[in-house]
Amino acid sequence: MMWKLRFALLSFISIGILSNCAAQKNIKKYLRNDAVSFVDSNLNHAYRQYLFFSQNIPDSVFPRSLSKEGNLVPGNSGWWCSGFYPGTLLLLQENFKNDTLKQETKEKLKILEKEKFNTSTHDLGFMMYCSFGNLNRITPDTMFKNTLVQSARSLSTRFSPVTNCIRSWDSENKKEFIVIIDNMMNLELLFYATKATGDSSYYKTAVTHANTTMRHYFRPDHSSYHLVVYDSKTGEIITKKTAQGAHDTSAWARGQAWGLYGYTVMYRETKDKKYLDLANSIADFLLHHPNLPADKIAYWDFNAPGIPEAPRDASTGSLMAAALLELATYNKAYEAKEYTQAATIILSSLSSSQYRSAIGENKGFLIKHGVGHLPSKSEVDVPLTYGDYYYVEALMRYKKLAQGKNLFE
Ligand code: GLY
Repeated sequence: MMWKLRFALLSFISIGILSNCAAQKNIKKYLRNDAVSFVDSNLNHAYRQYLFFSQNIPDSVFPRSLSKEGNLVPGNSGWWCSGFYPGTLLLLQENFKNDTLKQETKEKLKILEKEKFNTSTHDLGFMMYCSFGNLNRITPDTMFKNTLVQSARSLSTRFSPVTNCIRSWDSENKKEFIVIIDNMMNLELLFYATKATGDSSYYKTAVTHANTTMRHYFRPDHSSYHLVVYDSKTGEIITKKTAQGAHDTSAWARGQAWGLYGYTVMYRETKDKKYLDLANSIADFLLHHPNLPADKIAYWDFNAPGIPEAPRDASTGSLMAAALLELATYNKAYEAKEYTQAATIILSSLSSSQYRSAIGENKGFLIKHGVGHLPSKSEVDVPLTYGDYYYVEALMRYKKLAQGKNLFE
């Protein structure tokens, strides 16, 4: 009986895997006709620009953005963006299979590694999984695995069984337990930790956080709040608002994209259809919004004042492209076609001189016209390190789909 059950389960999983592979093969027909040469020439451009970048970055600095005057804005290893630059270097090395960027990557990772003990931030997924996660995927090693598991352990200390989620920002007011939608991006690290150790507690934390977020952030049109403040003693919601959006009930563009990417990962890791349905609903909101421009690079907020003159946020474009390409592989023909074609438009836009630096420009950043935090007048219409990372990730995904490969093999 037990064996029959196991066999049935295995057959079910195999059929799931096979049909997913079939879906990935079918996606090829929705890509650009010149998909492989399109990606290769853009990855080549990215590689040359990052070679230039790496020659101009001071040793202990993690590039974050540019000032209005065009000067490099540096970050340190504890800043939430510290994993993106080494992560981009790793993706480029993976594609080009050469060692030119190796020394630069090694130096940054050496400085970054200590953040595995950082319990003062929820951003460890961004910081450690985009960097050490890629490193360990490309060149598996027990030391890298241990770094990732320790990072997951540190992240887990911020989980509360009262609010049933992971704290994002610390607050001086002990009553407040602040969580932002961006936090969905840190869960991939927890899923990895369960696979690496066999300890299911990380998996449970990720699922619990995602379920709590699913209940409280999404509005009837499937746009989401940026921030929910819970009562740390009771778990009750105190308020829902924004920090980086136009107003509390607006749809801050990057927040929507974090949700899209985050719930796509949730489906990848759990195969629970409710996450697929949510990711599809978010995609629906984004792609059919009347304020999404024809080149599909969103304004910084879907409800930004001054549209069509409002600034675009190209980092949202990069993120949407990467997420939509994965989401396409989990869907049937209609959605798969729509998402792949939208990602194609985004990547074509980002690869044009409108959004992408020429070699040697912008100190080495690739993607221009990002918006970090407009309400505080910080990082408006500038390159952002995560705009580069998710652009290169999306190109790598596009290439795999063009080659009929599994995105995660
Ligand atoms: N996680 C911060 C941001 O998206 O700007």
